[in-house]
Amino acid sequence: MDVRTGFIVLICLMGFTCAEPVKYIDCGSSTGKVAMVDISPCASQPCQLHKGQSYSVNVTFNSAVESQTSKALVHGIIAGVPVPFPIPIEDGCKSGIQCPIQKQQNYHYLNSLPVKSEYPTIRLVVEWELRDDNKKDLFCIRFPVQIVS
Ligand SMILES: *[C@@H]1O[C@H](CO)[C@@H](O)[C@H](O)[C@H]1NC(C)=O
Repeated sequence: MDVRTGFIVLICLMGFTCAEPVKYIDCGSSTGKVAMVDISPCASQPCQLHKGQSYSVNVTFNSAVESQTSKALVHGIIAGVPVPFPIPIEDGCKSGIQCPIQKQQNYHYLNSLPVKSEYPTIRLVVEWELRDDNKKDLFCIRFPVQIVS
């Protein structure tokens, strides 16, 4: 553990909200540009997701288009195979984004990632897309997680 990680863990143990930028890869954002991804709580990476808990997701992005709608699609990629990952609210316009989406505007997409107790204890990659009116990705991000009991 390096000094920075140690410091973040300490802050988290002290009970502060701990959100550090998550290391993600862009999987084809075409009508927007991602600036930052936060998962909370996530003290060390890959984020450890405890079964039965819910995590907050905050994706900061800039839109390059106007769009009336936005719809989120989440997959868990397990051994290379994308499996649909249900989220409570698919409508991006009800997830912190004020629609219609404007061009050249920054948005914080806020949602929660519930981890069901029946999920297996595995490492996987979460793929999170937000699609615009034309089903193009305002953002597409992938980040690794570890499901723990
Ligand atoms: C989402 O992340 C942005 C950028 O770090 C931050 O300014 C904003 O306050 C966050 N929103 C919430 C609700 O955590």
